[in-house]
Amino acid sequence: MFSPRTIILTAFGLMLAGTSSAMKVPESLLLNSVAESIALPMYTWSANGTHQAKGYKTQQADVNNAKGLHEDCENINLNRKLATNFRSDVLGPGVIGFFYKCEKISDDTNLYWFTISSGEKSQIDQLCDPNQTYPIVYDQQHDTWFIDEPFDCTQRTSPSISV
Ligand SMILES: *[C@@H]1O[C@H](CO)[C@@H](O)[C@H](O)[C@H]1NC(C)=O
Ligand SMILES: *[C@@H]1O[C@H](CO)[C@@H](O)[C@H](O)[C@H]1NC(C)=O
Repeated sequence: MFSPRTIILTAFGLMLAGTSSAMKVPESLLLNSVAESIALPMYTWSANGTHQAKGYKTQQADVNNAKGLHEDCENINLNRKLATNFRSDVLGPGVIGFFYKCEKISDDTNLYWFTISSGEKSQIDQLCDPNQTYPIVYDQQHDTWFIDEPFDCTQRTSPSISV
């Protein structure tokens, strides 16, 4: 049942109207191409949920960056975002994050919906730890300093066979 495409199917399944189960998504040149391009492992641990991020104009996190927050949200809602080596500074390499929905919840904070995947269970455990903290990072695309709040994992999946 688990192929390299599994997580991508799950992620994209959320966006496909009328698709109740990710496994019903037909063979897809697109999803195969994405999985190949990001070298998605054969067996993955995954989680989905929501998390908040705060955006600032400076590394000292003293001035909100409403423009950067707005642009990041708009970009995700229009284009989605697939982040390879997501937060490798904290989690180590190989975590793939898919961000597919965003809402502004206050002047300095966005709420993001994510599905995340890795070939290492420990990385998903760490990401889903409500006490995990993340150093402030600079996003060049939006000229914004972001602080990721802990990730609230609502559902987790493991490979169906032991590896
Ligand atoms: C997580 O995945 C489950 C199963 O596909 C879905 O029902 C749920 O809405 C998802 N949660 C979030 C926050 O996206
Ligand atoms: C998070 O930290 C609090 C306070 O130190 C502690 O009580 C709690 O058990 C921790 N939670 C986890 C999941 O480690």
